[in-house]
Amino acid sequence: MNLYSQKNMGIKGLVESGYLNSIPPEYVFPSNLNDLEVEEVPTVDFSQLTAGTPDERSKAIQVIGKACREWGFFMVINHSMPRRLMDEMLNVGERFFDLAEEEKQDHAGKELFDPIRCGTGFNNGLGNVFLWRDYLKVHVHPHFHAPHKPADFRETSEEYCKKARDVAEELLKGISKSLGQEENYIHKKMDVESGSQLLVMNLYPPCPRPELVMGMPPHSDHGILTLLMQNDVCGLQILHNGKWVPVNPPPYSFLVNTGDHMEILTNGRYESVVHQVVVNSNATRMTIATGHGPPLGAIISPAAELVDSENHPPKYQGMKYRDYIELQQTNQLEGKSCLDRVRI
Ligand code: OGA
Ligand code: NI
Repeated sequence: MNLYSQKNMGIKGLVESGYLNSIPPEYVFPSNLNDLEVEEVPTVDFSQLTAGTPDERSKAIQVIGKACREWGFFMVINHSMPRRLMDEMLNVGERFFDLAEEEKQDHAGKELFDPIRCGTGFNNGLGNVFLWRDYLKVHVHPHFHAPHKPADFRETSEEYCKKARDVAEELLKGISKSLGQEENYIHKKMDVESGSQLLVMNLYPPCPRPELVMGMPPHSDHGILTLLMQNDVCGLQILHNGKWVPVNPPPYSFLVNTGDHMEILTNGRYESVVHQVVVNSNATRMTIATGHGPPLGAIISPAAELVDSENHPPKYQGMKYRDYIELQQTNQLEGKSCLDRVRI
């Protein structure tokens, strides 16, 4: 079997084939791992935000506001997603990636906006960027989709995605308040009710030379907010004041980051955060992300309330969300290069 037919299998297939004697050169990624910095990332206590005393609530909103201003990232603890459901999602995800390659591909469309896609690396239309990552991407809102295997995928993911939306909406209320607006401000501006939600499962198998490869290169997310959970293996790093900060979340927490459309809507007050994923040599990492965005047909521009022509003129021009995603996914996934295209 030659290496190229192996690659079509995804990185999990390649690793498990036993044919991997050295890292194939196209997987080698320029390293930026010298600039690591250990810093404590902000933590939001969700229960204080939603059910605390007025004092606790306003403190939680302050924490969120500071985290959005200074980090674009925070961890969320004591949230409303049942631990049982997080375990079930990781379990069903693992069984999806364990399916035979043909069975996985059986579910998958080829086009960018097909409701279910699975693959490896990052297929940007210019060719495949080889990453130490296999993925499944499913559009789950406003129309719910699910692969038909494993049989319990649909039921588990439907419940999970609904509850993730609830968590995201509560966080968006806190973020709206932190901007000095009423709690449904972002919800209305972004039409979250009929907004798009994308479920992404990422699998990062162990790599014999982790320092040579990348799970995901530096990028920002295109939507408003991303909620991410992981099995107990770390690997996410966020770019903060020019340094890469590794994230070591408490078990069952959510890792939350603001996306490009938060930056656009807030006219740059809350910038999206650049993040990347590194892999390791001994354990498989799995993450489950839900990306929350406006409807695909919406055009989001800086909000009138957050723009004033003298001191804060609009910094971004509106682009249909669907076109923005296409722009991001068909170019090199590199930092915030996509946002630069709509910067005024
Ligand atoms: C993503 C992402 C991070 C991770 O899917 O956009 O950044 O840790 N994932 O898997
Ligand atoms: Ni991301």
